[in-house]
Amino acid sequence: MANNLLSGKKGIIFGALDENSIATKVAERCHAEGAQLVLTNAPVAFRFGTIQKLAEKLKCEAIPADATSMEDLENLFTKSEEIFGGKFDFVLHSIGMSLNVRKKKEYTNLKHDWMLKTFDISAISFHKVMQTLFTKDLMNDYGSILGLTYIAAQRTFPDYSEMAESKALLESFARSFGYHFGTKNKTRVNTISQSPTWTTAGSGVKGFKEFYDYADKMSPLGNTSAEACADYCIMMFSDLTRGVTMQNLFHDGGFSNMGMNPSILEE
Ligand SMILES: NC(=O)c1ccc[n+]([C@@H]2O[C@H](COP(=O)([O-])OP(=O)(O)OC[C@H]3O[C@@H](n4cnc5c(N)ncnc54)[C@H](O)[C@@H]3O)[C@@H](O)[C@H]2O)c1
Repeated sequence: MANNLLSGKKGIIFGALDENSIATKVAERCHAEGAQLVLTNAPVAFRFGTIQKLAEKLKCEAIPADATSMEDLENLFTKSEEIFGGKFDFVLHSIGMSLNVRKKKEYTNLKHDWMLKTFDISAISFHKVMQTLFTKDLMNDYGSILGLTYIAAQRTFPDYSEMAESKALLESFARSFGYHFGTKNKTRVNTISQSPTWTTAGSGVKGFKEFYDYADKMSPLGNTSAEACADYCIMMFSDLTRGVTMQNLFHDGGFSNMGMNPSILEE
């Protein structure tokens, strides 16, 4: 595979936490394709030290920012512009967290103040990121903004709880801002709907193993890995997809279009 799909491009990666995070795989792949990066995550996530290690490995800066704070986002983007000496070509939003799921609250008995916080972290942060980029005019022409999502936005997966509504909101923000960014300077905004993947956030969902195995059996190609998701992100950041915007793109081995797979019934 050619290692220059992103040469000369500059991008910001939200959500690389540890070696399993999807955003970590994306950052590594962007680096291998010649991109210059800034990594960011919530200040609390920096305590583990893994983000700083990744930044060292990829020879880039890591800047803490709570993605729900407009002040933090403005600081992050101002510093990134200085580091790059210019605007950005791509941004990955790879952020998700549910307080009710973490505290094991049943869907029929959720705490609504926690739900608001979940929506703020997992979805409204995407709007905040895009609004800051838009008003500060920080995206280069034909830039590419991506958010990561899950099919629970369209279909019911009971254990995914309020994250389903978070993802529906996230996908809607991509479509709405896709219009504004497209008409402004041809910047694309899309979401990638990924298979269940073994990461810190993923495995936090109740019954994740059964959930993962079911999707794996149901999908003709099997579940897609975090590495394969990174490949898809690279394609979406590259100039090969300049006409793709406002889409929710399924990267799920065919799961979303299956009705029944006989292999589910086999032992
Ligand atoms: N793992 C899966 O099965 C799966 C499937 C489909 C979609 N996704 C989505 O992929 C994305 C990445 O998840 P992952 O599975 O790599 O897990 P992850 O836990 O590694 O990533 C979630 C990230 O969100 C960050 N975060 C939380 N609160 C934040 C805040 N206030 N400000 C900034 N960052 C914050 C965390 O620190 C972490 O880095 C999420 O949007 C997730 O919903 C995951």
